[in-house]
Amino acid sequence: MPNVLPPYGQDMSDTFDLVVVANRLPVWADSGSDGDIMWSRSPGGLVSSLEPALRGVDAVWVGWSGRYAPDPYASDDYGVELDPLPDGLGPCALREVEITREEIEGYYEGFCNTTIWPLYHDAIASPAYHRHLWDPYVEVNRRFAERISELAAHGATVWVHDYQLQLVPRFLRDRRPDLRIGFFLHIPFPPVELFTQLPWRKEIVEGLLGADLIGFHTPSGAANFLSLTQRLLDLDPDETGLTLGDATRPEGHRRVRVGAFPISIDTAEYDAIARTAEVQDEAAAIRDKLGNPKFVLLGVDRLDYTKGIDVRLKAFTELLADGRIKPGEAVFVQIATPSRENVEDYQRLRDEIELMIGRAIGDHGLIGAPPIQYLHQPMDRESLVAFYVAADVMLVTPYRDGMNLVAKEYAASRHDNGGALVLSEFAGAAVELTDSFLVNPYDADGVKQAILDAMHAEPAELHRRMTAMRSLLFAHDVDRWARSFLDSLGDIATQR
Ligand code: ADP
Ligand code: F6P
Repeated sequence: MPNVLPPYGQDMSDTFDLVVVANRLPVWADSGSDGDIMWSRSPGGLVSSLEPALRGVDAVWVGWSGRYAPDPYASDDYGVELDPLPDGLGPCALREVEITREEIEGYYEGFCNTTIWPLYHDAIASPAYHRHLWDPYVEVNRRFAERISELAAHGATVWVHDYQLQLVPRFLRDRRPDLRIGFFLHIPFPPVELFTQLPWRKEIVEGLLGADLIGFHTPSGAANFLSLTQRLLDLDPDETGLTLGDATRPEGHRRVRVGAFPISIDTAEYDAIARTAEVQDEAAAIRDKLGNPKFVLLGVDRLDYTKGIDVRLKAFTELLADGRIKPGEAVFVQIATPSRENVEDYQRLRDEIELMIGRAIGDHGLIGAPPIQYLHQPMDRESLVAFYVAADVMLVTPYRDGMNLVAKEYAASRHDNGGALVLSEFAGAAVELTDSFLVNPYDADGVKQAILDAMHAEPAELHRRMTAMRSLLFAHDVDRWARSFLDSLGDIATQR
């Protein structure tokens, strides 16, 4: 299959045996100040993990490119056509789903990121329940299902990703019962008590049950989902899934398997990048530019209120105020990629974080040596790895996180078996990375103590912990994750 992007909206007659579907394509259109489109890599963990897993695979990736489709009802858009997408980007073939600006407001900024995102992350921010946001979510999910059914060969495998597309499995099965359909959720799946707030709770569960296999990062996410099927639909789940249907009908039973598939990273790639002379030199240069402090602490996140950036800022600032970190002894670098900037809670978060940083620098800074450095910008992978190599302590303190790949990337980059990872118990990664310094992000004193423990641990202790985490990551990398999900999906489909 050609590894090129087809023109926008082109009616492609080719079909694929493996169709991977996510809200975003791995490449992303940003409008420059002159109105020209610039293509960049899409942000976020989903693309970071799927991109290497699909490199060179004979598959198509279906998603939104970031550009707005002409609105058929807007007179200004009448007859407008977008330029073709550039060739040769992406790990496999790419096909675009057309979404208008207005739909993005309701579907992506609205239902996805002001309803589902906060609800599935422990309702850290209040979820908004509005019918005018639900309708575009349904509409866009339906459009994805239509696009997939055009692109999927008979009997193809379709792998649908994440919370933006929870209705797609049902819509797709209704259109194409010949397909084997997998769904993987990249964010936490909440407990029954929270999920049942959702006015469209039954529709979401029924949407997901259109799949043959539903995967979560953790066993608790899978268990939460299974209890819901009992509570809302009166089904009878067992530990590995449930059986739908009626044996007296011609199609008989259909088994839906539900399980945990903890996602990972391309461990060998991070390890290899970290070993290059360029990255080693850049890491040394970073420490130098920071004034060669005894300790470099690091945070790397999308600027998202679930990530607990405030938790670590507060802890670090209090340690400076308490005198338990001496002036000039440590520098904390926070790198935050801009994220979801049209959503109000994210705008507020940015103001809060930048206020906290400004205050801390004002209160504790020395001329030419601020204790905190803040970069609100995306970064290429090599530069990010150089920061991982430069950092003595990595701070990953989300209030709730599906997995958190940054934690894994840090350990994969530490081929010296040095460095310390402070990790929230409420990140999916904590299930596997038990040799990190685990913290409860709600316990301010606990976080402060964990930071000090990580800073002052004996080298032998750090070596032991890092070696254990790295060997787990080499054994469980992203290829193994993708293979285990697709193998399970294949097994179910053949047993159908
Ligand atoms: P999420 O999926 O919520 O964004 P993850 O930690 O799982 O969180 O994944 C974030 C991904 O984004 C990681 O692969 C990380 O390397 C990448 N990333 C984070 N910050 C930046 C940045 N400033 N520039 C480029 N990539 C970044
Ligand atoms: O992993 C969760 C996730 O929402 C992905 O679905 C997404 O690719 C990533 O984080 C970044 O979010 P967004 O696509 O909204 O910028």
